Amino acid sequence: MGKPVLQIVVASTRPGRTGLPVARWFRERAAAHDAFEVELVDLAEVNLPFLDEPHHPRLRQYVNQHTKEWSATIERGDAFVFVTPEYNYGFNAVLKNAIDYLHHEWQYKPVGFVSYGGVSAGTRAVQMLKQVVTTLKMVPVSEAVSIPFVAQFLDEEGRLRPNDVMDGAADAMLAELARLAAALRHLRPAA
Ligand SMILES: Cc1cc2nc3c(=O)[nH]c(=O)nc-3n(C[C@H](O)[C@H](O)[C@H](O)COP(=O)(O)O)c2cc1C
Repeated sequence: MGKPVLQIVVASTRPGRTGLPVARWFRERAAAHDAFEVELVDLAEVNLPFLDEPHHPRLRQYVNQHTKEWSATIERGDAFVFVTPEYNYGFNAVLKNAIDYLHHEWQYKPVGFVSYGGVSAGTRAVQMLKQVVTTLKMVPVSEAVSIPFVAQFLDEEGRLRPNDVMDGAADAMLAELARLAAALRHLRPAA
């Protein structure tokens, strides 16, 4: 059996978004951690329209090609990290839309959060996300990377320069995701 697949989901889609350098840093950290096969899933590239399926996603009767492709992508994941901004004290609409498209594909998989923003470090967005993901039987880990005043960690080229706290938090979260991915695998229908 190969390594479990960790999908790092970049939630923000704005031109010049901070989410991308944050996600790229986390991808490097996850690759070095070595527990996972790591994929970057950029919602700007996935480019889903607002939910346009006629049936509830739990029926899996998808009619649109973009939904079938999105389903196949998330089905492949064994664990997720949502890299989320905080917009108006919540997580962004693009991520909510992407979550709502699917149902079984998310179930019994762990999810961790890398959040960023101003003084709150995106933690209000994460609190909101936990309510949503648990409805889908995803299992959020409490270990988290919370980046306050994120702009101070970007260099002239726009790359994220983490501090030790961020690196340590990322490693703790990756370790917990690996433990839970192994345990939860047995609860999934394909197991
Ligand atoms: C629509 C909007 C709403 C925002 N609301 C918040 C907020 O509630 N809390 C916060 O800390 N930062 C807020 N910000 C600032 C963001 O943290 C900052 O712009 C960040 O870079 C956004 O992530 P992104 O660049 O990946 O889109 C907001 C930014 C935007 C564009």
